[in-house]
Amino acid sequence: MNREQTAGASIRISRLEKRFGSVFAVDGVDIYIAAGEFLALLGPSGSGKTTILMSVAGFEFPTSGNIVVDSEDLTYVPANQRNLGMVFQNYTLFPHMSILDNVAFPLKMRGMPKAERHAKAEEALATVRLAGYGGRFPSQLSGGQQQRIALARAIVYRPRVLLMDEPLSALDKNLREDMQLEIKRLHAELGITVIFVTHDQSEALTMADRVAVLKDGKIQQIGPSRELYERPANLFTAGFIGEMNFIDVTVESTGDATSVLLPSGERWNVPATAAVDTVQAGQKAILGFRPERLGLGAAGSDYTLQVTLSDVVYAGSALLLIGKLPDGTEIRARLPGASDLTALTRGATATFSVPKEAILLYAGGAK
Ligand SMILES: Nc1ncnc2c1ncn2[C@@H]1O[C@H](COP(=O)(O)OP(=O)(O)O)[C@@H](O)[C@H]1O
Ligand SMILES: [Mg+2]
Repeated sequence: MNREQTAGASIRISRLEKRFGSVFAVDGVDIYIAAGEFLALLGPSGSGKTTILMSVAGFEFPTSGNIVVDSEDLTYVPANQRNLGMVFQNYTLFPHMSILDNVAFPLKMRGMPKAERHAKAEEALATVRLAGYGGRFPSQLSGGQQQRIALARAIVYRPRVLLMDEPLSALDKNLREDMQLEIKRLHAELGITVIFVTHDQSEALTMADRVAVLKDGKIQQIGPSRELYERPANLFTAGFIGEMNFIDVTVESTGDATSVLLPSGERWNVPATAAVDTVQAGQKAILGFRPERLGLGAAGSDYTLQVTLSDVVYAGSALLLIGKLPDGTEIRARLPGASDLTALTRGATATFSVPKEAILLYAGGAK
């Protein structure tokens, strides 16, 4: 097979719905994934990620909606006829089979003669950088190596699509980060389409071309990492991705700028472009801004906050300051390490400034 034939397939998920009794596990999901794209499904536990992936894999059949891979409607096609690669959290290698036989297993199921399937399995082992490990048994490999074997087994028959459900969550941090890069490299090398499920926002942001954020079976936002981080479309995404400060405010007027009243009695005129939601005078609203965008001291800014420091945490590359506004709202600032720290002790007062471009404004409601 040459590269042309083995490159990825496009996937169109349309109006996907899956009910378990009265639970809507997936509730009207639409996603188009381009051929060769790397998409992450990100959301808290129970948000429907696995159910979407299982529907694409063919291990679950939806209550309604369609799944089309390239131009073929696979919605009700059995899993074993879809030719999609799958890697789970628990890598489920066969313990009494050699590594080579484990990797060659999908080819054996497809009736490929032994010499040929062993040659292909050796190739797949080389792709995951474990050439020469074929003679060992799963118990003789580390967790990370076993997960790479599971990956080799999933790609050995050159699927058009690779589906991964929290494949790295059982690994410790360093190994997980190595494997993240390894999977990205493999994606670039093979050109296949990847859907990667994770509940870890930093994993999703670093690995994927685009991220779909899910909650209660519904997509909250879908877009490139940077877009999700810099302009979260709603309060859920704003709170779920990265760290975000929130302040409850009241809208006083709208127009070229939006005037909001802070709990301290101060007024901020934020640019109209800061409003992610449409807001109206008299309504409650919520200001959001990232801790790493804050500066220490007023520095001529129109947007300052007086806080009492409740914690000063030295965190290597950054200094984390946790302050409280007079009404008790907690505000975090992450400052590059080199700042002068002598005056920053618990109980001291400090002024934070917020750059205009960092401010986001959402309509009021539960965070
Ligand atoms: N086989 C099942 N039977 C009943 N409820 C299920 C089943 N599978 C999933 N659910 C429910 O569907 C929702 C979504 O589950 P799931 O897709 O596993 O979420 P995630 O992978 O994001 O944690 C949850 O409320 C879960 O309890
Ligand atoms: Mg899951």
